[in-house]
Amino acid sequence: MKHMKQTKVLKVDFNDPDAASIHEAADAIRAGRLVAFPTETVYGLGANALDGDAIQQIYHAKRRPANDPIIAHLGHAAQLDYIAVDIPEAARQLAEVFWPGPLTMVLRRAAHIPANIAVGLTTIAARVPVHPVARALLEASGVPIAAPSANTFTRPSATTAAHVLEDLDGYVDIVLDSGPTHIGLESTVLDLTQFPPLVLRPGGVLIDDLRQIIPEVEVKPQYLTENQTASVSPGMLIKHYSPKARVILYEGLPEAVTQRMCATARELVADGKRAGVLVSEEEAPQFTDLGVRIIALGKQDDLAQVARVLFAAMRALDAQGVDAILVHGFGQDGLGAAIWDRLVRAAEGRVVRV
Ligand code: TXA
Ligand code: MG
Repeated sequence: MKHMKQTKVLKVDFNDPDAASIHEAADAIRAGRLVAFPTETVYGLGANALDGDAIQQIYHAKRRPANDPIIAHLGHAAQLDYIAVDIPEAARQLAEVFWPGPLTMVLRRAAHIPANIAVGLTTIAARVPVHPVARALLEASGVPIAAPSANTFTRPSATTAAHVLEDLDGYVDIVLDSGPTHIGLESTVLDLTQFPPLVLRPGGVLIDDLRQIIPEVEVKPQYLTENQTASVSPGMLIKHYSPKARVILYEGLPEAVTQRMCATARELVADGKRAGVLVSEEEAPQFTDLGVRIIALGKQDDLAQVARVLFAAMRALDAQGVDAILVHGFGQDGLGAAIWDRLVRAAEGRVVRV
C-alpha cells in the first residue's frame, strides 16, 4: 500500500508517563503527525486540532468519510474560550462538575479552528480527558488535539493499544500504550448549541448525573440508517460499531432471552455456523455444552465491568472468525443506556424482542 508509515509503539506508565515518550509524541503532534493515545474511555487517534492538514490525515487513517465531525481534546477547561464562542452558562457549569472526564460538549466553533474538524457544521465538540497519559500529552503539545476513537470506520472502538494496531498499523506515527482503558466505551456527547441541551450519544457520564446540574437535559438517541443523510451528528450512523460477524441483539425478560439465545445458538451450530455469545457471568453456564464461544462480560449488575470489556469481547469473537454474535441488553439504568446504544449500532438496528 502507498504512503504506509512506520508505526512506533511507546509503552508508558499509566500514572507516571515517561517524559521522553510524551515529548516525542507531543513533537509529532506539533509536526502535524498522528498519535494514538489512551483516554479514560477508549483510545483516540490524535492530530493537532489547529492544523487542517493534520486533521485530514485522521479521515484517511480511519478510512472514514471526510464529513464525520471530530472531538477536540483540551488540556484544561480554560482552553474552551479559545476554540468555541457564545458558550452558554450551562456549559460552564457542566465543565466545572464533569471535566476532566468523559463528557463531550458541542458548542459554536471559533472562526480560526479548521472547518474540517466538523465538516459542514459551524460547531465544535470538546472534552477534557482525565486519563493521566492524555493529560500529559495535551500539556506537552500545547495545542488542542482532534481525536476520534482509534478504530477504522465501522469497527468497535479500540480499548487497548493492540486494537489500535489491528486497525491502524501503518497509518499512525506513534501509539502511546498504557494498557486497557478504564471505562471502555466512549464519552457522552451533549449538544449545548440549543436549550434544553440534547444528549446525542449516551456514554461515560450518566444522563441522571447531567440532570443533577441541568434538569432540562433531553435525550433523543438518533439511529440513522446509511441511506439517511447524517447531517446532525454523522457519527450517529447506525453502522458504526459493527464487528465483522453478524450481531443478533435480544431484548426482553432475562430468562426468556437466555432461552431464546440458547435455542438460536443450537440452530446456528446445527447449521455448521460458528457462533459466539456475550453474556453475564450468571448465565454463562447455560451455554457451556452448546458448542459456541462464550465470553462472560461480567456480573449482570456490574455494568461498569460490562462496558469496560464489551468492545474487546466483540473484537475477540471476530478474531475467532465467528459468523454470528448473540448478545442482549443490560437494561437502561446507569451505563445500561450507553451499552444498549453500542449494541444497537453493532446489530445495525435489528433487535429481537423476546
Ligand atoms: O470518548 C470519546 O468520546 C472518544 C475519546 C477518544 O475521546 N472519542 C470518540 O470520538 O468517541 P468519535 O469520533 O468516535 O465520536 C465522536 C462523536 C460522534 O458521534 C460525532 O458525531 C460526535 O461525537 N461529534 C463530534 N463533533 C460533533 C459536532 N460538532 N456536532 C455534533 N456531534 C459531534
Ligand atoms: Mg468512534
